[in-house]
Formats: sequence, structure tokens, C-alpha cells
Amino acid sequence: MPEYQSLYRKYRSQTFADLVGQEASSRALQGAIISARVAHAYLFSGSRGTGKTSAARLLAKALNCTGRLRDSAEPCNKCQSCIEMTAGSALDLIEIDAASNRGIDEIRDLREKVNLAPALGPFKVYIIDEAHMLTEPAFNALLKTLEEPPAHVVFILCTTDAQKIPLTVIGRCQQFVFRRHSEEQIVSRLTHIAKSEKVKVDDDAMQLIARTAQGSMRDAVGLLDQLVPLAEGPISLESARSLLGIADPRLLDSLLDDVLAGRAAEALAELGRVYAAGAELRQVVRGLMESCRDRLVAALTKRDQPTARRLSSVLDALLHLDGEVRRHAEPRFLVEATLARLAVELGTTDVPEGIPPPVVALRAAPTSSVSGEVTTSVAETVSVPALASAEVTGWSDVLEKLNRTVRAAYLDAQPELEGSMLVLWFRYGFHHKKAQEQSMQLMPHVRAWLGDGVKVDFRLRESDTSKPAPKANSPEDDPFVREVVRRFDGRVTRVKEVSE
Ligand SMILES: Nc1ncnc2c1ncn2[C@@H]1O[C@H](COP(=O)(O)OP(=O)(O)OP(=O)(O)O)[C@@H](O)[C@H]1O
Ligand SMILES: [Mg+2]
Ligand SMILES: [Zn+2]
Repeated sequence: MPEYQSLYRKYRSQTFADLVGQEASSRALQGAIISARVAHAYLFSGSRGTGKTSAARLLAKALNCTGRLRDSAEPCNKCQSCIEMTAGSALDLIEIDAASNRGIDEIRDLREKVNLAPALGPFKVYIIDEAHMLTEPAFNALLKTLEEPPAHVVFILCTTDAQKIPLTVIGRCQQFVFRRHSEEQIVSRLTHIAKSEKVKVDDDAMQLIARTAQGSMRDAVGLLDQLVPLAEGPISLESARSLLGIADPRLLDSLLDDVLAGRAAEALAELGRVYAAGAELRQVVRGLMESCRDRLVAALTKRDQPTARRLSSVLDALLHLDGEVRRHAEPRFLVEATLARLAVELGTTDVPEGIPPPVVALRAAPTSSVSGEVTTSVAETVSVPALASAEVTGWSDVLEKLNRTVRAAYLDAQPELEGSMLVLWFRYGFHHKKAQEQSMQLMPHVRAWLGDGVKVDFRLRESDTSKPAPKANSPEDDPFVREVVRRFDGRVTRVKEVSE
């Protein structure tokens, strides 16, 4: 039996014509190859799974191909150099994975060997993958080589995180940005692959895969790869959904209806059905967020403030839940507890016009011990109103724009606007630290949302062990708080001192 080759590998673009999207980069690279004006260093940055490594290998291949036509940049894929490069055995193509040991030994080795002439072709090509993971000493060593590169050397740095590459290095590279793929591009590529593999995939199943892949061709091909061996016969939307653990959006819609209408028991039963159908809870929470967001946008467009407020509270809780679900070993109870609580709270709350609902009270309860529970203060409830709907959507839009790894650092953040300052509250020191480290990635999106003048303040919530809640005058005793709690059937969950 022939060894199974994953679709992801099998369908790596071997010609520029086969590289989907990335037209501008592809055209520029081909122009440089044809006119023999190749730079000494390139930086391929951009979204994950969009063809950076593939394009780097293509460039390397084209540069050393002996069968290439004069007016074409396409490698022949038949000459010795091309065959060795495709097989990964070419001596003139050196791939360094900076993620594996952060590149220190490799870069040292590179500095020793870089001056040696190439083995077969005119060029020696170094592809440094995940280049943002290089350590500072590795970057410094690389920089020395980039300052005086031997004529026969071409460096291609690939990264999803260009902001982490020192400017001194970027300054010596020609940069190309690789864009996320559209759903149409993904569907068309998957259709091509399915046809070549002689598998039948229904159109709506293709659409589902394309949507789930969120712009990454690699993820899309990977999802198809999971489906092909499992599916018996044609892949329908239903089988794709159950195999990928994605819930039927109609079920999610009715689940959300139950939550919003305060039907807690029905919501739990619906969740049980979704779960029994094999849906993954992370996908469920994602799906609920999408549906909630669509409804919120619709409510805002109709200027239906009361509905928008309810939806924004739910979305806020779901955003938080999304972060929690990833961490939990037993997320089912967490999802159940949150949805039930939302339903109960929304069911007993008739949100009066003009008073924002206390979003804080709607957040997922800390699932650890009860003593770990945090409390809320009079000052906060009064002076820092819950975020308006548009702001919650704005923040979730920002999250959407971040790549997955960066996003992870911010999922725990709870946003609050204080004038022109966006305050991000974190419950864990680890996230608080990570988020600050990644702020370069965050800022452009926050500025696009709130304007150039915006400042972001990263704050860590103090746990009540390090900072006991004020005892003398319990916040619950404050008449205002009592009234809010009564009206919303809420409860005080957090106390924060407001220093002013
Ligand atoms: N532009 C594209 N056209 C066709 N297939 C693509 C494209 N981008 C990615 N793929 C598919 O995804 C696989 C991985 O692509 P590649 O390694 O080039 O992505 P990448 O941008 O380097 O990803 P990462 O950021 O994760 O390193 C390829 O083997 C191919 O199957
Ligand atoms: Mg890559
Ligand atoms: Zn060739």
C-alpha cells in the first residue's frame, strides 16, 4: 500500500500559477526572478497558512532551476535541482525552523558556512521559518550576515509576527505581506483538490470548511484531510458538521433564543442535544458568539437599545466563556452553568430604558472554589457603567483580527472604556503579562477602532486574598447597590476600588 501523504503536503503549490491569492507578492517575485534582480533578503509575513513557506520554496526552486524558460519564473520541476528541492534533499536549500530551538546553533552554523559556494546551482537559499522566534543573539548574528551578504546567498525570513522582528533586520529585507484567503478562494481550491482526489464534497460542506478555516488555506486543506478518510461516500453538510464537531447553526439559534427569553431549562436541554450530536464545545461557544453578534448588529441598526443591551451582555459573557472553555478539562459544566445563569438573569430582568444592565454580574462565575469569588464595588457599579453594545462589538472585532496565538493572550481581558482610555482587565497575572508583551499586535486594531489618540491600560484584578474587600461598609449595604441588585435580580460579584 502506498504511504498516505496528507493533502496538505500533496497539494503544496509547486508553481507560482498554483499559488492561490497573494497576487501582488507573486507577481513581484516572478518579475524579480525573470529580470534576475533578486534581493539578498526577503521577509514574508502575514496570516498563518497562507503560503509563505510554499512561496519561499518556490523562489528557491526557481532561482536554481536549470530548466526554467527565459521569460518565465516558473521552475520546471523536472531538473535535478528542482527534484532535490521538492524532495527536501537539496544542499543549496537550507531551512531553519526558528521555533524548534530558537535558532541559536543554526545561525552560528550559518555564519560559518554562508561563505561557502553553493553545491549545485548559482544560489544558496536560507529559509528561516517562524523567524520571529529567533533569540536576540541569533538575530544579531543574522544581522551581521545580512550587512555583508555573499553574492550567492538569498535569505527568506517567514513569520506570522513581523512586529517581533527587529527593525534593523526588517530594514535589510524586502517585505511581502501574505493575506488571508477569502472563502471563495478556499472553496475553489478545495474543489480542485477534491476533484483530483476523486472525492465528492457537497457545496454547503465546502462552505462550512471554508468558514471554519478563517482565511487559512492550510487549515482548510487540513480539515478536508480529516474528513476524507472518515467519510463514507460523498461528504454532506451533516457529516462534515458531525465529523468536525460543528453544531448546526439552527440548533444554536434556538439555544440562543432560549437563553435570551430566560428559558433556562429549555436552554440546557437544547445544549444537551447539541452536545449529543457531537458538537465540540468550543465550536458551540464560537457559534453562539457569531449568532449573538449578528443579532446585536441587527438590533443596533434598528436602534433597538433594550435588545442590544441584552445581547451585548450575553456576548460579553460568551467572549469570556470562550477563553475559559479552552482552559477547562471539563468545559461542559462551565458552558451549562454560564448559559443557565444568563437565562435565569435575563428571564427575571426586564431591562428598564436608560439603565445599563450590570454586565459584571452576568459573567461566568469563577468555577474554582467559592472562596475564590470576587466582589464588586459601589464605586464601580456607579461610575463605570457596563460597556455599551457597540463597544463590546468593537472589542470582539479587535479580537477577531488578531491571529490565534496573539488572541489567546487577550481572551481573558475584560474591556472598559474610561474616556479615551481602553482599560483591559485581567484576572490572571500570566495573561496580563502576555497581553502586554503582545501589545504591538493589538494596538493597530485598537487605533483603527477608537482612533489614534487611544491609550490602553493593562490592569490586573487583585484577588481578594491579596486585597481584602472593605469590611467596614459592605458594598451590598449601599442603598444604590441594593436597588440595582433587586431590579436586576443580580448579585455582587466583584469589588474594585476606584482611586480618584
Ligand atoms: N496560497 C496558497 N495556495 C495554495 N495552497 C496553499 C496556500 N497557502 C497555503 N496553502 C496550503 O497550506 C499548506 C501550508 O502552506 P504554507 O506552509 O506555505 O503556509 P505558511 O503561510 O507558511 O503557514 P505558517 O504561517 O503556518 O507557517 C500548503 O502545503 C498548501 O496545502
Ligand atoms: Mg510557514
Ligand atoms: Zn528545474
